[in-house]
Amino acid sequence: MGKPFFMRDKFLTWGAVIVIFTLVVALLIRAHYWIPILLFCIYCIGVYNTYQTKHAILRNFPVLGYFRYFFETISPEMQQYFIERETDGKPFPRNQRSAVYRRAKNLSDTVPFGTQLEVNHRKYEGIKHSIYAKSPKEELPRVWVGNEQCSQPYHASLFNISAMSFGSLSDRAQISLNRGAKKGNFYHNTGEGGISPYHLEGGGDICWQIGTGYFGCRDEQGNFSEELFAEKTKNPVVKMVELKLSQGAKPGHGGVLPGVKNTPEIAAIRHVKPGVTILSPPGHSAFSDAEGLLRFVQRLRELSGGKPTGFKLCIGDTREFEEICAKMNELQIYPDFITVDGAEGGTGAAPPEFSDGVGMPLEPALIFVNRTLKNYGVREKIRIIASGKVLTSLDILRAIAMGADMCNNARGFMFALGCIQALRCNTNACPTGVATQDKMLIKGLDVTDKSERVYHFHKNTLQTCNELIAAAGRKSYDQVDASMFMRGDEFDRLSDKYFPDVLGNVDKVQS
Ligand SMILES: Cc1cc2nc3c(=O)[nH]c(=O)nc-3n(C[C@H](O)[C@H](O)[C@H](O)COP(=O)(O)O)c2cc1C
Repeated sequence: MGKPFFMRDKFLTWGAVIVIFTLVVALLIRAHYWIPILLFCIYCIGVYNTYQTKHAILRNFPVLGYFRYFFETISPEMQQYFIERETDGKPFPRNQRSAVYRRAKNLSDTVPFGTQLEVNHRKYEGIKHSIYAKSPKEELPRVWVGNEQCSQPYHASLFNISAMSFGSLSDRAQISLNRGAKKGNFYHNTGEGGISPYHLEGGGDICWQIGTGYFGCRDEQGNFSEELFAEKTKNPVVKMVELKLSQGAKPGHGGVLPGVKNTPEIAAIRHVKPGVTILSPPGHSAFSDAEGLLRFVQRLRELSGGKPTGFKLCIGDTREFEEICAKMNELQIYPDFITVDGAEGGTGAAPPEFSDGVGMPLEPALIFVNRTLKNYGVREKIRIIASGKVLTSLDILRAIAMGADMCNNARGFMFALGCIQALRCNTNACPTGVATQDKMLIKGLDVTDKSERVYHFHKNTLQTCNELIAAAGRKSYDQVDASMFMRGDEFDRLSDKYFPDVLGNVDKVQS
């Protein structure tokens, strides 16, 4: 079989022939000179590509090779627009994204014609409603955070914005989140990139996250600075402090801020060099064991003037967590909250092996953390915050049933900001202006509109939570537990177990 015409050697010969031919024709008819000029330019690019050594496809297919790169860049959109069905799409299927968009736009979030889920499948998880359903409460649920060691407890919303730094998200995205948080009275976690002016612009409540890079509270050598921390936590909008140990999408890896997103402004906020990729170290320099961790939490709480202080982690080696619990009792130091992030959690940028292969998923992690805190007799002192695909009202109730007191969400709020799951957070080319520092792209994000969407997404999600617990006949969130849920295949299996002769009986009756 012959090689295709557009391969390198044929391209060089036939390309030259075509350019010369069109030039001769243009000279003869004394018109359309642009055609040979255009073809000549394309030919030159092709010739360049045949000699470059970086891209094999372009060396072999000097012009047509570009189509491959073009289709590759728009592949997430092609998937979404032409291939994806309602329940397809990763990490979030279309039906879940649409639910967020509708809630964020404050439109009716009803669906027609019934469920598209396979309700007899094990993956289906439903709520056991009650015959004696109640009327849903109007008031949105709130939870006190802060034990007896904290002098400024905070009355938090049950659902809040999870950590996302200015750097991974744009300035307008952060302003919109913050204004939405202010209007809806919930908190906005800064992410490990420090408190930027955009986190403060709307006056919404802040949970300041301190990561291994100590961004915003670090000295010249990158070590934690007590002075800077104490000064910044004086700000009354800082309601809580979260020490980040790890996150589900890349546990044990530290943060990655790609160089293209590290603008001079971000670098100044973080106290780092602009333009270079910033890797926060995988571990903390301020402590290296359970005792050090708890003493550091205690110190942060003192320096903050007694604000609720806790830590965020994705569960890995369970013995380490048990050791921390044992140390709590030994040292009598109790964090005010622990944020449990599941391996299914999101990120702006992470190595694939860390995203796909490290850390415990949220559900078993919550069950483990809740049980362990109870075993050590410290559960009453510590709030558990759950994150990792806690997107819908059902997800929130499921997390509470597994042991959480509150939930955080990152990517749901990104959808509320207009994110289309283009999967470009790590390239600075987010088409919606949410996860980029490109000024041209950010211009597309309208703060007034998007902050309203953030507000409505939060409000409508929690209102649906209220409706669901009322449908289950429960009076409050304290009554939400695992007995409220069922799995799709539960009754199939039960019927096999307890009524194996049912079909036989039917036959007998009929005969
Ligand atoms: C763009 C982006 C940036 C993030 N930045 C941080 C961060 O700075 N610190 C952190 O602890 N987690 C960070 N996360 C993780 C979230 O806070 C959260 O733990 C995780 O995404 C939970 O999953 P969800 O997106 O399904 O809610 C980030 C997530 C995303 C999507």
